This record gives sequence, structure tokens and C-alpha cells, in this order.
Amino acid sequence: MVKQHIEAVYLVIGLTVGLIISFIGVNFGNVALPQSLARNHRLSEAVEATRYTFHNDTHSQLSFRDPQSHEEIDSIKGPDKPLSFDDGHHHHDNITSAETLYKTVRVLCWIMTSPQNLKKKAQHVRATWAKRCNIVIFISSETNKDFPTVGVNTTEGREHLTAKTMQSFKYCWDNYRDQADWFLKADDDTYVIVENLRYLLSAYKPTDPIFFGHKFKVNVKQGYFSGGGGYVLSHEALKRYAEKGVKDPVHCQPDGGAEDIEMGRCMEHLGVTAGDSRDALGRSRFHCFSLRTHLDSLYPQWFYHHDANGAKGGPGSISDYAISFHYVDPKMMYHLEFYTYHLRPYGIITGTQNLNAKPKV
Ligand SMILES: *[C@@H]1O[C@H](CO)[C@@H](O)[C@H](O)[C@H]1NC(C)=O
Ligand SMILES: *[C@@H]1O[C@H](CO)[C@@H](O)[C@H](O)[C@H]1NC(C)=O
Ligand SMILES: *[C@@H]1O[C@H](CO)[C@@H](O)[C@H](O)[C@H]1NC(C)=O
Repeated sequence: MVKQHIEAVYLVIGLTVGLIISFIGVNFGNVALPQSLARNHRLSEAVEATRYTFHNDTHSQLSFRDPQSHEEIDSIKGPDKPLSFDDGHHHHDNITSAETLYKTVRVLCWIMTSPQNLKKKAQHVRATWAKRCNIVIFISSETNKDFPTVGVNTTEGREHLTAKTMQSFKYCWDNYRDQADWFLKADDDTYVIVENLRYLLSAYKPTDPIFFGHKFKVNVKQGYFSGGGGYVLSHEALKRYAEKGVKDPVHCQPDGGAEDIEMGRCMEHLGVTAGDSRDALGRSRFHCFSLRTHLDSLYPQWFYHHDANGAKGGPGSISDYAISFHYVDPKMMYHLEFYTYHLRPYGIITGTQNLNAKPKV
């Protein structure tokens, strides 16, 4: 008797959930469902449609993928003030190895931002991952003594990102060449796990002419690195840029074009290698999309012919020592911060792995 009652309750719950799902499906019904995803079953079809469609309403609360362009991410509002976890003293992590690398692999991070993004985005970068860099510089088209930001001599706007980038790297060389071994460029929607960056770099010397990032195989012979996924130049790479590149506007374009492609061309011309940052198991460390986009393999079409490593996706394709993610909105910065530095399975003391060997594949 009791068992039958329970079954009836489950039936009612099942029907209710089913109705809600089909209702959602109808409301997002003006969608293009890829053929391969079509299912005979009506309910699963509705679920698949909402899950896999890049529907038009970027403000929708019910979104089944993360932003994949600056237009999309700009519509997401973050907290007004930085959030504080305020519980550092509760952790009992053994940070000896990370502290050693902090001293031996000195990373300068410069973060490209703009006057209108200081409150919206840059303050959340500063409150999260950027504090782990040896030196942090926020660079904008305007000097702001309060934030502070360094102003470079360019007009604001996406069409001048190349000038902003080139001048920023020159500024870093002129002012910090003796204080850092590696120079990372990131955007105000990039999230970086700086300890993992140092681990990758610890296998190389700052005197190696090399740079690393999420590699694309088009436009530049040896490939180039996604600007938003962040890329890092060795001391030697930056030296070549500052001493030779800036005087060679033919190969190192001072403005125009796409910032990341122009930097790739310039580096190739200066004999700087586009390094392989995959881990020993062939998994990716720099990422040009959000963690969720890579985990779900929900890539836009262009990615399949750009990605230099086969556009893999899913949990098995991402390194335990992942370095960067892109299109991270301010709230997501704090999510990643929580998963990476706070959430812990009780009773598991995390050890270190050797993942810097060249992948066999
Ligand atoms: C998507 O939104 C844009 C801009 O709001 C609009 O021009 C376009 O017609 C929309 N497309 C669809 C399929 O609704
Ligand atoms: C912390 O890690 C270091 C290096 O991995 C090790 O030598 C040391 O014994 C560890 N300390 C504790 C308290 O476990
Ligand atoms: C900024 O760039 C313009 C155009 O190249 C140049 O005329 C001007 O002198 C520069 N200003 C500074 C402060 O470098």
C-alpha cells in the first residue's frame, strides 16, 4: 500500500517536471537545433534544444552556455564591490613549493583594461587572481592614479588593441626588466591560476626566446596565441621586442590588425618560438574560453579550424594544472577562485604531480 503511494507521488513529480521542461522548450522554441542532436523523444528534444542553442537573448537568466564574445560578456553585471572570502587563516595547505616558485619564477602580469571597465571588471581581477603575480600593472588608455592604472598613448577601442598591447610591453620592459623573468598579458575577463603558470615556466629559462598561450594554427606559420586566453613572454622574447621589434613596424605592426595575430607575427620574425604548453598527458593549460565551454565542448564553429591541438573538449582534455580561462565574467571570477583556492574534499592532502614532460601524442 505504502509503496503504491510513493510510486504515485513519483509519477506526479515526474509529470510536473516534464510539463515544466516542455514549457521551457516551447518558450525557447525559435531555435535552430543541429540535426545530430535531434531525438525522437519529445521531452529530450526540448531539453536538447535549450541546451545546445545559442539563443538570441544574452540577458536571459536561463542560459545554457557561457559567453563567447565580448559583446555577450559585456552584458553581464558583476558585484559592485570586490567579494572577500576572508578565511585564509582556516586553510592548512602546504604552500612550500608554490612559495619557492614565487621567488624563482618571477611573473609580471599586465592586465589590459579600459576606463569604463575599472569598476565593472578590473577591480574583480585585482581582488582575485592578480594578487598572486609578483608584479601587477593595469594598463588603460588613461592614467588613473586612484585605481591605479597606467595610461598608454592610444585611442580607446578594440581597433587599437594592437597599439595598446605593443606599448604596454614596451612600458614593462622600460620599467620592470630587472624585476621579472616572465611577462604575462591578460585581459580583464581572463582568469589565471598563477601557481600553475609558474610551474609550466619552471621547465624553461627566462633567457629562452619563447612565449606560451592558447595556440591557434592559422595566420602565422608557427601559430599564435589567443589574446584573451593570456600569453606570456620570456625575458628574452620581450628584450627582442623592445630592442628590435619596436623599430621594425613592417614586421611588428605598431597598430591595427588583430592584437594577438600581430604579436604572433612579430615574435615569429624575431625568432621567438611559439611554445607547447600542453601537459605530459597532452591536456590543455591555456584556454581561450571559459571552463564550462571547454568542459561541455560547446565551441563556436570557427574554433575547429583555429585550434592547434584538435579542438578537444571535455574533462579529460583539461590539465589538472590548467593556467588560464577566458570570457570569465566578474561573478565567475569568484566562482573559480572558490573552486581553486577554497573548496576542499576533507581528508585529502593534495600532492604534486610531474606534468611538465613533453606529451607523447
Ligand atoms: C537577434 O538579435 C538581433 C539584435 O537584437 C536582431 O537584429 C536579430 O533579428 C535577432 N535574431 C533572431 C533570430 O531573433
Ligand atoms: C611541505 O612540502 C614540502 C615540499 O613539498 C615538504 O618538504 C615539507 O615536508 C612539507 N611540510 C609539511 C608540514 O608537510
Ligand atoms: C602619442 O602618439 C602621438 C601619435 O603617434 C604622438 O604625436 C605623441 O607625441 C605621443 N605622445 C606621447 C606622450 O608619447
